[in-house]
Amino acid sequence: MYTEPTTFSAEQYFATQLPPPTLQHDVECVREFIARHQKEGRAVVLVTSGGTTVPLELNVVRFLDNFSAGTRGATSAEYFLKAGYAVIFMHRQFSLQPFSRHYSHSTNPFLDFLDIDSPESPGATPRISVTPNKREDLLQVLTMYKDVHARGTLHTLTFVTVDDYLWLLRAVSKEMSVLKRKAMFYLAAAVSDFFLPRQKMASYLSEHKIQSGKGSLHIEMDQVPKILKPLVDEWTPGGFIVSFKLETDENLLLPKARQALERYGHQVVIGNELHRRKFEVVFVSKKPSPALPPGIKQTKEAISHATDPSNSFSEYWLRIDIPEHPAPGVLVKEIEEDIVAELVKRHTEWVENTS
Ligand code: PMT
Repeated sequence: MYTEPTTFSAEQYFATQLPPPTLQHDVECVREFIARHQKEGRAVVLVTSGGTTVPLELNVVRFLDNFSAGTRGATSAEYFLKAGYAVIFMHRQFSLQPFSRHYSHSTNPFLDFLDIDSPESPGATPRISVTPNKREDLLQVLTMYKDVHARGTLHTLTFVTVDDYLWLLRAVSKEMSVLKRKAMFYLAAAVSDFFLPRQKMASYLSEHKIQSGKGSLHIEMDQVPKILKPLVDEWTPGGFIVSFKLETDENLLLPKARQALERYGHQVVIGNELHRRKFEVVFVSKKPSPALPPGIKQTKEAISHATDPSNSFSEYWLRIDIPEHPAPGVLVKEIEEDIVAELVKRHTEWVENTS
């Protein structure tokens, strides 16, 4: 009978779950990318994006998934590139990607942008052109895409399962530690909190496709270790770390964001409520401990003021207006533009103030 713990520490997790087969190759490419940009003095941001799956079988047919399309991550990656960062974009396979996201197959199919022009002479091959009213937007996206490729400032990595994600995150963050304060982490992926250890699948769940003949299916999942703690303390001490907190109950947003900052000790939590996430987010961070002016005694009032949770955290709400019915294909203001601008400002100040 399987007897692994139901709450894994990060070490137990990595000692028992297998890495993805491409890990070594991915790490070598990331190392080369980081070294090149470090030499050129560029800051590097790791953007994680999209949802992780949890397979239910070793030979996987079924899996648990979540809603994330990777919009936040793909959009933010573009704005980081515009701001001069080199971007490691670690995303769920087939989720949205920078640039191509503008022409997603479902909301803005790229075939609708193309016209077939009549051939100049009978028998000649017809030419393809871009529909005139789409040209300006396409030119803007294409110019940026080509520029990023020419400068080599975007490196893409893919994951599918929560195991892939955790192994990759650990390996990439260790590589990024050489950048010290010039490394930023933007953890927008929606990471599963529960998983099925492979030993559990092999011993009493299923190696092969689960059969329906036995009636209802009961699955007990184990907790995924909270990896922000080792990320902050061990894998990449010195980096500027931004995590996201997603809630559906808006009353939990601030308490949970504060709790994450207390627990993990990183720089910023960006809280977002599921249905308002495209036009409203809140930045939560810890205020520096108030230094008492010289000669002032640590009075009871001063100490209680300093330890009152409502005085220890700063909250900054960011909101944008978005049109209710935007015309398809027309570029509209995106909240990620302002999120990234605010983070770039904070990261720059933090580098200046702490080096
Ligand atoms: O992709 P979109 O449709 O645009 O949606 C964007 C988003 C809503 C998914 C995004 O803005 C967001 O909120 N992402 C984080 C969602 C989440 O998983 O929250 P969490 O409370 O479970 O995790 C908090 C943080 O810890 C996250 O930064 C997560 O990447 C990280 N985490 C969580 C668990 C775990 N084991 N490892 C982690 O790294």
